[in-house]
Amino acid sequence: MLWKRRNSMFEPYTLPSGAELNNRLLLAPMTNFLSEDDGRVSDKELNYYKRRSKGLGAVITACANVNAQGKGFDGEIGVDRDELIPGLKQLADVIHGEGTKAILQIYHGGRMCPPHLVPEETPVSASAVAAEREGAVTPREMTDDEIVQTIEDFKQATRRAIEAGFDGVEIHGANTYLLQQFFSPHSNRRTDRWGGDVFERMRFPLAIVDAVEEAVQEHASSPFITGYRLSPEEPHTPGITLDDTLKFSNELAKKELDYLHISLRTFHQPSIREEGGTSVIRQIQDEVGNHIPVIGVGALMTKEDVEQALQTVPLIALGREMLIDPDWAVKVKEGQTDQIAIEMDHESQEEVMIPEPMWTRILSVPGWIPQKNK
Ligand SMILES: Cc1cc2nc3c(=O)[nH]c(=O)nc-3n(C[C@H](O)[C@H](O)[C@H](O)COP(=O)(O)O)c2cc1C
Repeated sequence: MLWKRRNSMFEPYTLPSGAELNNRLLLAPMTNFLSEDDGRVSDKELNYYKRRSKGLGAVITACANVNAQGKGFDGEIGVDRDELIPGLKQLADVIHGEGTKAILQIYHGGRMCPPHLVPEETPVSASAVAAEREGAVTPREMTDDEIVQTIEDFKQATRRAIEAGFDGVEIHGANTYLLQQFFSPHSNRRTDRWGGDVFERMRFPLAIVDAVEEAVQEHASSPFITGYRLSPEEPHTPGITLDDTLKFSNELAKKELDYLHISLRTFHQPSIREEGGTSVIRQIQDEVGNHIPVIGVGALMTKEDVEQALQTVPLIALGREMLIDPDWAVKVKEGQTDQIAIEMDHESQEEVMIPEPMWTRILSVPGWIPQKNK
């Protein structure tokens, strides 16, 4: 029993679809800027994933755009065309080669897409409202036809992921992108069927969940993982509140989803509207955790951090720590915790396999990655 408790992060975990993870650790989705300009997987990218797939239950890839209008980053991986399937298959194979499940994050950036990456240099969103950040452009409001087509694009992206041999998809409903823009009262001011009160603003993301589930039923021959990632709150008013998110989580829990992935900067953080209160992740787990597995994430660096977090939720994603030390899970499993790096060593680029331009980009954003010789 003692042994079990100490090693619980390495216990297998069976998801509602029947898919089994070797353990409870996942690589958090992280954009790497390494794909080719046309969205094809690059060799550099394959090396990057191979280096950080070992010892985890699943790798969640960087976000992959489901259509041309949804591309949010230079060097972003695409899942918007059938011709990209062979490269995606190589990616799934590389992750499988390390004994780990492969989950493709499917995405549309909406109003956050830089104009130079999208058709007619015009980002789209639920409504023509710019994000609250310096230099943000005002997007064009999507038509009903475009919304329906985008739902279909998420379905086709799921089909491509299945054909490429992925074990699952994660619907990216977090971090201010299109699905969140429809759920948010800030970016969604629509008065048609896609806007309105908190339940009406869920219609678009829930329609995407249904479309993804249809693709799974039509194309998958073995258990296929479907997850949903969300950001629980927005700081501005109007903006998503935790109460909105608890309602939304209940609706998501009624679907055939395998997990709910809560995107937080810091795993234990309280609500931004209730300083010092119960952690957001605890409130979500208490609300829906009996109906759907919850993944937690955010500034978890050490074995103790993860063990403590696993007292709240059954599954943990690690992001930046897996950039700093891609052997994190292997070292913890083998009892070599004293050898884990928790700051990025500037000499280690080759060893940790972070090719350019990712290396320069992540190190140049102040405070993004803890750095050793800085
Ligand atoms: C370089 C980088 C790229 C990221 N790209 C994505 C992404 O493509 N999709 C996503 O949902 N989150 C993305 N995130 C957020 C992470 O998945 C994660 O939630 C966040 O880094 C907090 O976890 P951590 O403290 O373990 O890194 C990214 C984070 C980093 C550092």
